[in-house]
Amino acid sequence: HPAPILSLANAFGADDARAWFERIKKIDDRVEKAKFVVEPKIDGLSVVLHYRDGVFAQGATRGDGEVGEDITSNLRTVRTIPLRIPVEANAKITVPKYLVVRGEAFLPIKEFEELNRKLEEAGEKTYLNPRNTAAGSLRQLDPKLTASRPLTMLVYQIIHSEGGKVPTSQWEILEYLKALGFPVTDVAKRFDDLEKAIAYTETWDKRRDKLPYEADGMVIKIDDLRLAGDLGFVGKDPLGAIDFKFPAREVTTSLLGIDVEVGRT
Ligand code: IVH
Repeated sequence: HPAPILSLANAFGADDARAWFERIKKIDDRVEKAKFVVEPKIDGLSVVLHYRDGVFAQGATRGDGEVGEDITSNLRTVRTIPLRIPVEANAKITVPKYLVVRGEAFLPIKEFEELNRKLEEAGEKTYLNPRNTAAGSLRQLDPKLTASRPLTMLVYQIIHSEGGKVPTSQWEILEYLKALGFPVTDVAKRFDDLEKAIAYTETWDKRRDKLPYEADGMVIKIDDLRLAGDLGFVGKDPLGAIDFKFPAREVTTSLLGIDVEVGRT
């Protein structure tokens, strides 16, 4: 990857998010007046797309964050991924000669259920969950199989750009990516203070079933990407954003048995 593909620290509840805010305020006083963008945290497969002169040239999984697996041929079959983005400068948009974006590839819940229904009818093995199905479909050898799966993607980050300017706020990045023809979430909102961002996050906790994909939380991001970058990291987690987890769903279940095995070591 041309830049590290980072992860996110978790916040479990509003107080955790407030503690994060207090912590980063101490690092940089610009945080006090910061705006926040809230986006769904999609439970899919992190994917990186490279465009050279507007043409989709390479696609990779996240891997260890530095080196991913090349899955270009499979990603080409995902219908919502543009194979070409408009490079011709119009009045408002210009596209860098080399642009690398990141997003989450996934299988919408409805499509997952439909796929499993078909597999069951055919007497074949069904899949456990949309995430595993999406990952399995993208990380296998036959692009024809990938093409037969109704995978899609939402793009949310510019990892790298050369030969052209890109926006410096997260909100503008989302608008810019959308204008270039990338699939972008329509659930994102920008707020001028953290409490409003938390309140919005909590509204999605109650209606997470309305999202067409699996989401295990919402990501709260500092809108000003320069400020976010200046805050630095803790390990692989940037301090400029936090994954606000939805509370875990609780159900009662029966433990049917435990198999004890001897491992290699
Ligand atoms: S932002 C610095 N935004 O969640 C940027 N991540 O541990 C860091 N994910 O595997 C990532 N939806 O692939 C971001 N709207 C979103 C996301 C998102 C899903 C995934 C990401 C990563 C994990 C975070």
